[in-house]
Amino acid sequence: DEDEAFRFGPQLMNNDPSISRSQSRWGQHVLLYVVAMVAALGGLLFGYDTAVISGAMLFLRVSFALNAWMQEITVSIALLGAAIGALSGGKLSDMLGRRTTLRITAGVFTLGTLCTALSVNWMMFLGLRLIVGLSIGATASIVPVYISEIAPFRLRGVLVTFNQLALTIGIAAAYWVDLAFASAHMGWPPMYAVTAIPGLALLIGMLFTLESPRWLASKGRWSESALVLGRLCTFEEATQEWQTMRTSFAGHSNHGSLHELLRPGIRVALLVGVSLAIFQQVVGINTVIYYAPTIFEYAGFTSASSAILATSIVGVVNVLTTIVAGILIDRVGRRALLIGGTIGMATTLLALGLIFAIGPRQSGYLILTVLLGYVIAFAVSLGPVFWVLCAEIFPTHLRATGASIATFANWSANLLVSLTFLSLINLIGKSFTFWLYALMSLLALAFCILFVPETRNKSLEQIEAYWVNGRRWEKKEKASSPAESIASIKARM
Ligand code: GLC
Repeated sequence: DEDEAFRFGPQLMNNDPSISRSQSRWGQHVLLYVVAMVAALGGLLFGYDTAVISGAMLFLRVSFALNAWMQEITVSIALLGAAIGALSGGKLSDMLGRRTTLRITAGVFTLGTLCTALSVNWMMFLGLRLIVGLSIGATASIVPVYISEIAPFRLRGVLVTFNQLALTIGIAAAYWVDLAFASAHMGWPPMYAVTAIPGLALLIGMLFTLESPRWLASKGRWSESALVLGRLCTFEEATQEWQTMRTSFAGHSNHGSLHELLRPGIRVALLVGVSLAIFQQVVGINTVIYYAPTIFEYAGFTSASSAILATSIVGVVNVLTTIVAGILIDRVGRRALLIGGTIGMATTLLALGLIFAIGPRQSGYLILTVLLGYVIAFAVSLGPVFWVLCAEIFPTHLRATGASIATFANWSANLLVSLTFLSLINLIGKSFTFWLYALMSLLALAFCILFVPETRNKSLEQIEAYWVNGRRWEKKEKASSPAESIASIKARM
């Protein structure tokens, strides 16, 4: 009975024989890690799908006789789809559940990407890219939310970072796959067709994973929620999470609207989410991710293969640094990473502009080194930390809506930066373009110092209370044993 479950959740779980058998911390966390990894395949699709175009374009422009503006449309159509998809992902996942929505988006992605590979003309290609973009955008907004909702708070940062790690692996894989199919003279279709494999893996994986306990609770399905928590967390963690979840849902069990996100207090969370989303893009990261070979050509790597090799190194460094970020995020915290990273980005971008302005003509290796410094600074900070914060700063009943608005802002800014990069270089030159991104990094630094709270080691519900209380943390409750926690729940009933 749901009422019973609501009151005695953790105890109920403990009475379930299948659960008390797997009470060991290891057993439960292995399942948690596996579920997070399966969901993070969504990030892999995101990364691969957005980066694969860099190599595919060389062939597409021949197959479909594309001139410059047609190429721009070809690149941006999926980003446009993703922006729209991100906006609808929140609503959909509130209605159908995080898991069901991810099954649908994975299905659409897999089918869409296979059909893309079979496109016979440019229009068909564009239509399919739009559809695949929609599913990527929705997936990108739901995966971090889903992972943050299944994770006990001490592991939330690292588990959500899996998503960004998979994303960077996807980008690196796209570079290498492009290179392989290009050298084998197989053209663009197989570059798209291979993504059906991780797409299918996500679909199959999502058939077997668990629904978010917080979404279940928001629908009043407390007993299922209790069972899921019991399977993913240790008994102690489950009790703690249950306690905070119950308090947070006491006021509202329905999913909130945009109107509620604009309430005093909570709207600062929206400001933080949307601003970080925009800053993550306007520091210019995707000019490097999408146009790296072009930048290396400017830098004097004149042969295509050396430019592509340099690009692949960028991909690998991005992955390795994201691993470091995952290790650090729950230890040194979100703010320290953001502050260090934005300072690093501003410095390397200033240097990059300077080298283009007054450096020697053939400064290829110098530029590669500075660019790698920039990628490291991004990958340890705004890259993963934005996605983690986006998934944890909104109250549970507004989380999917908030995250989907922030993700929409992220894709829109991505579209803007990707569309304007080459024109900016023609208009104001390389140095000023990179200095503009440096300026944005400095603004991001100031914003982080002023507005971003440290959410490390806070439960999702403590974070909610922080906004509601006018950006003040509640006094720390003393850590209690499960038995004490249950006693305190009972006492409050
Ligand atoms: C972030 C950005 C994405 C970018 C990636 C690069 O996840 O959201 O747009 O391509 O980092 O690593």
